[in-house]
Amino acid sequence: MKPMIDLKTQYLEMKDEMLGMLNEVLDSAHYILGAKGAELEKQVRQYNAVNEAIGVASGTDALHLALAALGIGPGDEVITTPFTFFATAEAIMYVGAKPVFVDIQPDTYNIDPQEIKKKITPKTKAIIPVHIFGYPADMDSIMKIAADHNLKVVEDCAQSFGASLNGIKTGSFGDAGCFSFYPSKNLGAYGDGGMVILRDHETAETVRMLRNHGSKGAYKHECVGYNSRLDELQAAILLVKMKRIDSYNAKRKQNAALYTSLLKDVIKCPVEKSGAVHVYHQYTLQSSSRDLIQQRLKDAGISSVVYYPIPLHIQKAMEPLGYKEGDLPIAEKAAKEVLSLPIYPELPEDDIRQTCAVIIDFLKAGR
Ligand SMILES: Cc1ncc(COP(=O)(O)O)c(C=O)c1O
Repeated sequence: MKPMIDLKTQYLEMKDEMLGMLNEVLDSAHYILGAKGAELEKQVRQYNAVNEAIGVASGTDALHLALAALGIGPGDEVITTPFTFFATAEAIMYVGAKPVFVDIQPDTYNIDPQEIKKKITPKTKAIIPVHIFGYPADMDSIMKIAADHNLKVVEDCAQSFGASLNGIKTGSFGDAGCFSFYPSKNLGAYGDGGMVILRDHETAETVRMLRNHGSKGAYKHECVGYNSRLDELQAAILLVKMKRIDSYNAKRKQNAALYTSLLKDVIKCPVEKSGAVHVYHQYTLQSSSRDLIQQRLKDAGISSVVYYPIPLHIQKAMEPLGYKEGDLPIAEKAAKEVLSLPIYPELPEDDIRQTCAVIIDFLKAGR
């Protein structure tokens, strides 16, 4: 079966350098909160043109600690998209706040700013836009709404490292940007990891404290925090990949461009609006024949995945919030129709052509 992603090929290309870096960490005998983590934080800060970057244990924790540090808590409402990975909403629940889901734009799959406006109440304290699949959400509109209503903005950049809008990187628009370094992410570690980026030093200090048991200095605890640090081995791995992130993203874009050139006349392909730089964490099609296309691909030995089959507002875990099917029709339709194809920097051109041929044959044959 042709895979969705091939991390082994990528590893082999940089194996010597990677093992060298890992050896440095092992030889240093400093495994948590050391030089590699600090260097990675510096590089991520510079890359995204922000003042602060704090390594944490996962993307989920990045969202959780950012919300906590921004003072979001019980009784607050946080507006977000239902068309995302579950962790986006989990983080809101972790701080005791209530997720308020609003519908998405049908072309980008990102949260619709017009829908955000309709759901603002006196309890609304924050918005979490997700740059889904690596495509930037409409941050200009979202930041304006936030400014008009005095809301915090926490960007979920788990899928969008390096994506930008009018030259500004995702994660640097809002009060905080949260990255995931889960292995399959476009900047991925070899285990779990995450990072919060922000401009405000005081909030950054709070995130730093929260990730380390509420501690500001050894054995002095200002508050009850968490154990959520990015370890040195993961930081070292990420430093090796940071050097290559622009080239990885460029190759993803190149692969996406080939898919789009071959498929755009037969099926709905991802959009790229002017000023937006997509990093194609996923390459996602939409068709009412999605399940049949997926079966055809499977028969041809090609993997494909539905991200995401159940929008968050109708997940069982969210039942207490009282949503029902039909409440957010665009997200629900997307969930029934989207299909993500293999996409990774090393994806062979022949694989793309073969995948497209299977889809085109199927659609042209009228099934
Ligand atoms: C959109 C989104 N948000 C949050 C997360 C959570 O990140 P992690 O798995 O690193 O906790 C992920 C990925 O898993 C994600 O895709």
